[in-house]
Amino acid sequence: MYTTEIGSDLVKAKYLLEQGELVAIPTETVYGLAGNGLDSNAIAKIYAAKNRPQFNPLILHVGSIEQMEKWVEVIPDVCRLLIQHFSPGPITYLLPKSDQVPELITAGSSRVALRIPAHPVTLQLLNSLEFPLAAPSANPSGYVSPVSSQHVFQGLNGKIPYIIEGGSCKIGLESTIVGFQDNKVVVHRLGGISIEEIKAVCNTEVVLQLAHAQPTAPGQLKSHYATKKLLLHGDIKENMLLLTGKKIGILSFNTNYHISNSIEYVLSTNGSLSEAASGLFSAMRSLDQSDVDVILAEFFPDEGLGKSINDRLARAAYPNKYDR
Ligand code: TXA
Ligand code: MG
Repeated sequence: MYTTEIGSDLVKAKYLLEQGELVAIPTETVYGLAGNGLDSNAIAKIYAAKNRPQFNPLILHVGSIEQMEKWVEVIPDVCRLLIQHFSPGPITYLLPKSDQVPELITAGSSRVALRIPAHPVTLQLLNSLEFPLAAPSANPSGYVSPVSSQHVFQGLNGKIPYIIEGGSCKIGLESTIVGFQDNKVVVHRLGGISIEEIKAVCNTEVVLQLAHAQPTAPGQLKSHYATKKLLLHGDIKENMLLLTGKKIGILSFNTNYHISNSIEYVLSTNGSLSEAASGLFSAMRSLDQSDVDVILAEFFPDEGLGKSINDRLARAAYPNKYDR
């Protein structure tokens, strides 16, 4: 057991990481649970603290493209173009790993996931370290990702020594994950950069191949991003009809449904998808901790960040269409 401290002491954070300990770090997407990405003991601590299955690989976080070059065999031209436009930022690149990247990071895959996060404090930390930081989202495996230091504390208190205070995460959704195949950009996870944005800067084809749509082992990716309470994703009024007498939590885009005996979160009254994305996980957590019986989330517009929001809600929902 650790006494978990929240603070802004980067010297302390650096020291702990150099000792092989874990530190939660703020990023623009969600908070990460970071450890030395070259130290197998630190990596094992990450899996243990999150209770995460070891076949689920980790993203390596670096402070610059120069640092990125060290951990990969090659960076294709189209990837360089994306880096130029979007990094530091909410996008992760799957690239052929160099020999120095431990197998435990990639879960045996020949590709490593790399990201340059756009948070000034974490960039400063990364640029002061001699090693990359392995960092999954800083939540117990399967639960909603944390977008504040308090969220991290709620999930990992006692399991890690230090959480760096970095305010609330601006984007609020995890990074978009892209790979490169046959001169195409392959989007493996929808996230903070939209497909439309990627298409706008690429001169090559962009295809969607979501990893969780094709799990390699049955049950592997059940109940991701899930609230403890039942969450239904769909038409709010239709789902209401199934739930007479229940106290309802509502997650909507810009419509206020004015339903009695409910707690309602309208994520962006002026219809901004990025504002809605940044408030989504906090609203899910608040409703989960409230006294509602069921959470109803509506379909968001199927465009831009709306696609990423719908992806998270679909995976949190019951029945989860990705369950096998
Ligand atoms: O925004 C983010 O990406 C956050 C912040 C902390 O950077 N991190 C994050 O990590 O969401 P995590 O571990 O919760 O999700 C990373 C996803 C997992 O679904 C994992 O399977 C996939 O990336 N991934 C990591 N390395 C991979 C690899 N080598 N090949 C395929 N998928 C990989
Ligand atoms: Mg995660």
